[in-house]
Amino acid sequence: MDDAKRKFLKQTAIAMTVAGGAVVTIPFISSMRPVQTEQEYLDEHNALVDISDIPPGGMKEVPWTNEWHLIGFIAIVRRTEQELSYLDQLLPDLKDPYSKESEQPPYVQNAYRSLRKDIFVGVNRCTHLGCKLLFKPHLEKHDWPDYARLAGFDCPCHGSLFDLAGRVYKGSPGRTNLTIPPHHFVADNLIRIGAHPPAAQSPSSEGKA
Ligand code: FES
Repeated sequence: MDDAKRKFLKQTAIAMTVAGGAVVTIPFISSMRPVQTEQEYLDEHNALVDISDIPPGGMKEVPWTNEWHLIGFIAIVRRTEQELSYLDQLLPDLKDPYSKESEQPPYVQNAYRSLRKDIFVGVNRCTHLGCKLLFKPHLEKHDWPDYARLAGFDCPCHGSLFDLAGRVYKGSPGRTNLTIPPHHFVADNLIRIGAHPPAAQSPSSEGKA
């Protein structure tokens, strides 16, 4: 065997040993991580959000880590009475008007998709391929097609449109409405994202369809 061939075989053997060691070692190291207590899990996946700074018709966005440790964003919108009054009129224009195919906790499966009528809480991730959406509060200032008559969310990737209850309009590539995360009100202007409401808050009687 010539020198070049011997050198090549030696390097290949070393590389395989290192790779094999990593395959064995990485799961071993991760199994050494201390097991999270339930409280630690809740602390990591919960976020307390002050919504007192959201004006009527406005939106606030907060980062959130879900159960798969993926960082995402939660959109919180304070809807006006006028905006709420439009939601019913949009039903014929929506793909899943009653959110039967969409992902949400049972306590928000109502006409407003929310615990409280005025406050919408949804995951800001397009249900087509996951792009982050743009909030479009003033319909008259942008160029949505006619069927999207109300303000909401617009996907910059392939044009999916969602209303202010996170419901997807017909004609959008997105198939379902925006996901609603577990959440509840700790106080009038304080929301905990990532934890279901105590029994007293659920289900909403105010927004029930
Ligand atoms: S990712 Fe939003 S429309 Fe495709």
